[in-house]
Amino acid sequence: MIPELWRVTHRREEFPGTITLSLTREAGGPSPIQPGQFNMLYAFGAGEAAISLSGSSASPAEPLTHTIKGQGLATQALCKLEVGTQLGIRGPFGQGWPTHLAANRPLVIIAGGLGLAPLRPLIYSFLKGHLPARRLQVFYGARRPEEMLYQPELGHWRSSFELVTSVDHASTDWNGHIGVITDPLRVTHLECNDALVFVCGPEIMMRFCIQVLLHKGVTESNIYLSMERNMKCAIGICGHCQWGPNFVCKDGPVFCYRDIRSWFQINSL
Ligand SMILES: Cc1cc2nc3c(=O)[nH]c(=O)nc-3n(C[C@H](O)[C@H](O)[C@H](O)COP(=O)(O)OP(=O)(O)OC[C@H]3O[C@@H](n4cnc5c(N)ncnc54)[C@H](O)[C@@H]3O)c2cc1C
Ligand code: FES
Repeated sequence: MIPELWRVTHRREEFPGTITLSLTREAGGPSPIQPGQFNMLYAFGAGEAAISLSGSSASPAEPLTHTIKGQGLATQALCKLEVGTQLGIRGPFGQGWPTHLAANRPLVIIAGGLGLAPLRPLIYSFLKGHLPARRLQVFYGARRPEEMLYQPELGHWRSSFELVTSVDHASTDWNGHIGVITDPLRVTHLECNDALVFVCGPEIMMRFCIQVLLHKGVTESNIYLSMERNMKCAIGICGHCQWGPNFVCKDGPVFCYRDIRSWFQINSL
């Protein structure tokens, strides 16, 4: 699959080293990507990286939005792209969030750090009335207040649904929770019998969240996780992203916890 040419139309620095880009296809036409799916973004001369959709997927006419943290060669080059510059995109790839299961049910979103990016499209869908969930609760943990993504939007979110934020470290002007996100998760009422839970963040954080969720009575089949592994081809050929019997690029990145429990419980697999 050959990358298509796209152009940066808007760039926002979330905090130093992490940016959100709006992109439009040079040839025009829709970009039918679903929440939870990812594209391979190609910074010319540097390399390719798997990056999740982080913006609205409601209308094909809207620009494509990706949030990128500069980690290595490719992602640092993507973070330096200015408005007007070109990049290559292959995709979309993978299985996204099973939004159809949310119909008339309470949806709980749990995000750690950059893990909020692949979950933000669901928040937009909920706010626009396109997600059929009856209630939304969002738990978001970050290292520090200044490292929280989408800060201009958090106030609106807080007034539109239950948003619980937590940071590992903060100065005295932070009014929210300090500590790990599992602390407020443990003490907040969830409609556990019926709740559908989507989780994305560092694996260690997802492991602790699952322990809390299971203890509260959420069933394994109602928990979905987004997994990350090194990607190359993104189409299930090269084997780079193999995880147990699965290829994360085509069987995931979103998996039902019930189906991957035995692989997920093995640290560093
Ligand atoms: C399905 C999926 C969705 C992703 N979505 C996003 C996103 O929305 N925004 C974003 O910024 N990043 C995302 N990533 C991670 C991103 O793809 C990697 O950070 C990127 O490939 C690193 O490439 P690089 O050339 O910049 O760094 P490299 O030089 O290749 O690597 C830098 C460091 O990151 C490690 N690394 C590379 N890839 C991964 C990975 N997939 N998981 C864990 N560690 C890795 C390397 O081992 C190395 O230590 C996603 C990854 C996957 C698999
Ligand atoms: S990235 Fe090649 S098989 Fe998944």
